[in-house]
Amino acid sequence: MTDLYAVVGNPIAHSRSPWIHAQFSRQTGQDMVYEAILAPLGEFAPTVADFRGRGGRGMNVTVPFKLEACALANRLTPRAKAAQAVNTLVFDGEGVLGDNTDGVGLVRDIRTNLGFPIAGKRVLLMGAGGAASGVILPLLEQGPRTLLIANRTRQKAHALQQRFSCHGNVISGDYEDIGGESFDLVINATSASLAGELPPLTAGIFSTGAMAYDMVYGGTGTPFLDFARQHGASRQIDGAGMLVEQAAESFLVWRGVRPETGRIIDRLRAAP
Ligand code: ATR
Repeated sequence: MTDLYAVVGNPIAHSRSPWIHAQFSRQTGQDMVYEAILAPLGEFAPTVADFRGRGGRGMNVTVPFKLEACALANRLTPRAKAAQAVNTLVFDGEGVLGDNTDGVGLVRDIRTNLGFPIAGKRVLLMGAGGAASGVILPLLEQGPRTLLIANRTRQKAHALQQRFSCHGNVISGDYEDIGGESFDLVINATSASLAGELPPLTAGIFSTGAMAYDMVYGGTGTPFLDFARQHGASRQIDGAGMLVEQAAESFLVWRGVRPETGRIIDRLRAAP
């Protein structure tokens, strides 16, 4: 019988996840279908229950339901527990398992696809919302020299620093606290790009050979990547690779097979 999966969010019409998972299932010969489901705000749990009632085996969860998905799961993987956010649900005989594949997806794109080792590097992570908290543990597991979490609202960055300080060398502050420091890897996990905005960065932020990575993807450049180009970052990368890699990790969790991602990332960038 064909197994049923879906991505749930609001809005959801723009989601490329059904296309990505269709490529994965064709490539690996897995017998599955993957839908996009719009959940009305305030109706996440009934929407998931309805999907399970139709025989659904697993779901990806996107904005704005990652916290609700975390609360709904009766078991969490260690990486979902650390993130306090869930983007992958598995429905099995024991109930609902919550996982988070966002951080692994980011790290895999940076390390494996882009060939940029994070170990020993000075990393700046901008933002302290759900997108940022989901990637901190996998970044720290790579052993960066420092991870600075910078956020407009300093207290939120500080709270994340405290939560993750036992996992590595994490510091926090607002954008003024960056001072004249420079970084080897600067990751934009704010929602500023979605509004066509840019966090207040200073010109010398990129060290020689630095990579700028915007977790947002959409076919056109973002204000942050434009800034990076103008201020000496060697590489400017959008979030297309992270999107495909987090999907591949979810696929692995569900099906026990890791799909090949390189060509799918290229095709996604060519036709966003
Ligand atoms: P997400 O789940 O995408 O992380 P979120 O939890 O609403 O969404 O968090 C949005 C993040 O983007 C926050 O860190 C926010 O900063 P504040 O905590 O100070 O609000 C950041 N952000 C949004 N717009 C921004 C802008 N124009 N400049 C800098 N940071 C911005």
